[in-house]
Amino acid sequence: MGLMTWNVLVLPGDGIGPEVTREAIRVLEHVAARWGHQTRLQEALLGGAAIHATGSPFPDRTRELALESDATLLGAVGLPEFDGLPPSERPEKGLLGLRKALDVYANLRPVRCYDSLIESSPLKNAIVQGTDILIVRELTGGLYFGQPRGIEGAGPDETAVNSMVYTRHEIERVGRMAFGLARQRRGRLTSVDKANVLENSQLWRGIMTQLSTEYQDVELDHMLVDNCAMQLLLRPADFDVVVTENLFGDILSDEASVLAGSIGMLPSASIGDRLPSGALRGLYEPVHGSAPDIAGRGLANPLAAIGSVAAMLKYTFGLSEESAAVERAIGEVLASGTVTADLKPAGEPASTRDVGLAVCSAVG
Ligand code: IPM
Ligand code: MN
Repeated sequence: MGLMTWNVLVLPGDGIGPEVTREAIRVLEHVAARWGHQTRLQEALLGGAAIHATGSPFPDRTRELALESDATLLGAVGLPEFDGLPPSERPEKGLLGLRKALDVYANLRPVRCYDSLIESSPLKNAIVQGTDILIVRELTGGLYFGQPRGIEGAGPDETAVNSMVYTRHEIERVGRMAFGLARQRRGRLTSVDKANVLENSQLWRGIMTQLSTEYQDVELDHMLVDNCAMQLLLRPADFDVVVTENLFGDILSDEASVLAGSIGMLPSASIGDRLPSGALRGLYEPVHGSAPDIAGRGLANPLAAIGSVAAMLKYTFGLSEESAAVERAIGEVLASGTVTADLKPAGEPASTRDVGLAVCSAVG
């Protein structure tokens, strides 16, 4: 791959977003310098920070810049001051708008248990050892976006409605993405649904079964979401790729973070189809939220944000060597014990910045 210019939009967002993003950018710039690429970074507002500055959680300028960029790197959104407000007025609305605007329908959330972090998980070592799961969460449909929605009426008849809506097209495209990814890994795909209750899941399950005839080298199984929540903790090492709808994926990925030792370890890549130009635009964000309780104190683990940079190099820029170098550096830093407090190190915890600097020096 020749030398490139990386056009990246940076959205630090709220809470710990700015501090973890700063370290992710440090690593991105370091890799660019080391391999001779150029970066063109622009910054914009999203979430609570954007509401404060403009009144909107997803300003038009942010939308324009995101659509012009190759990749967007996001910190986190959400602040407690907005807790009492309806979903339509909250910072999270900005993130949902961004995902929809970019049409990044597949959210890839890898969950790995590094040997050096085996003591960081509260689960028994023999259970978490060898865990290496890729959760593929549908990101632009389902209950998060379905119409009708809203609250109507008053008194005992006051009624709240949300709709779980999926079209065949939406299920097929995320299904194909998951089958394709399973093919590049260990060839196993678990489709998670609630087909014993929901029509929505009946369609989902039927489509996954149909697709499997096109991917005969991938072994497909179906699992009900409640059972999956349990199996993830009983025998996590048996899972390879998991594909599921938006809300189930949201819940299962937070649960699965316990296998990795901390939610501060989970990166994510949100991607869709290639643009007509051949580019694969992506949105890269840590799975953890804005954690306002620890914001601004250098306590936050930046590895999920840094891992999201590795994913950006791999998926959007197609740079497997640079991406692998960042992933290897993360592994080395973990093994060296330079980790933040969430990973419960034996010695003094490192700061957010210490970890960012350590990853840069491990990249070399
Ligand atoms: C996530 C988050 C978001 C989601 C919130 C902040 C809207 O929890 O990315 O998992 O529910 O998708
Ligand atoms: Mn979540």
